[in-house]
Amino acid sequence: MRQKVIAGNWKMNNDLNESVLLINEIKEKLVDRDNVKVIIAPPFTSLDRASQLISNSNISLSAQNMCYEDSGAFTGAVSASMLKSVGCEYVILGHSERRTLFGEDNSLINKKIKKAIVSNLIPIFCIGETLEERESGEMKNVIEKQVREGLEGISEHDLSNAILAYEPAWAIGTGKVATPEQAQEVHAFIRNLLKELYSEDLANKTVIQYGGSVKPENAAELIGQLDIDGALVGGACLKAESFAGIVNNA
Ligand code: 13P
Repeated sequence: MRQKVIAGNWKMNNDLNESVLLINEIKEKLVDRDNVKVIIAPPFTSLDRASQLISNSNISLSAQNMCYEDSGAFTGAVSASMLKSVGCEYVILGHSERRTLFGEDNSLINKKIKKAIVSNLIPIFCIGETLEERESGEMKNVIEKQVREGLEGISEHDLSNAILAYEPAWAIGTGKVATPEQAQEVHAFIRNLLKELYSEDLANKTVIQYGGSVKPENAAELIGQLDIDGALVGGACLKAESFAGIVNNA
């Protein structure tokens, strides 16, 4: 059975003091659940402190992005080993905001995923279509291309711990959540693609999260779907109560 994984993507929110407050509140409100893994992804500037604060808890740490190079003249970039050195176990890659606002394409994301894997960071690889792509009937082609190109040259062994996250861009930050049926349909499609590209075994064990306007009120029904193994949460993870509510409802 796949474990449920709930991750909070803080995006560009919370300075150091605010991060400390939020983490302490989350720790107070979370009920430990054996079958649910909890991950937080604060901004880079809070990672080191976050890692100290969660060291005595079951919460794991993720970064929101990473460079594909090891070191050198890449102003503003952060490497995998830097993330490891502040306690990150995970890194979110290919988020739709990185794709649309910062021009990241499938081949760049592929390089980052490869670097994360060789660095022993677990990638949370995000894919998803825009509203236009869904309405024009292109959704499955877009998702298939993102998966194929994002995972190109990555072996089944190397992919064995990776997490995928389906986040339809039209549901991110809009309050417009995909229906459980809409989300399940795409999750099943992605899982089938993993089976085609790799094996039934890998497809069956890969965690595929849903992201896009997840809240405590809709989490249980979404995560209750056969192929939905958790949530990548944006807005609702910025309040301890709603983040803990999602974890507790998962
Ligand atoms: P919202 O939960 O705010 O829609 O954001 C989802 C997301 O982008 C998580 O990565």
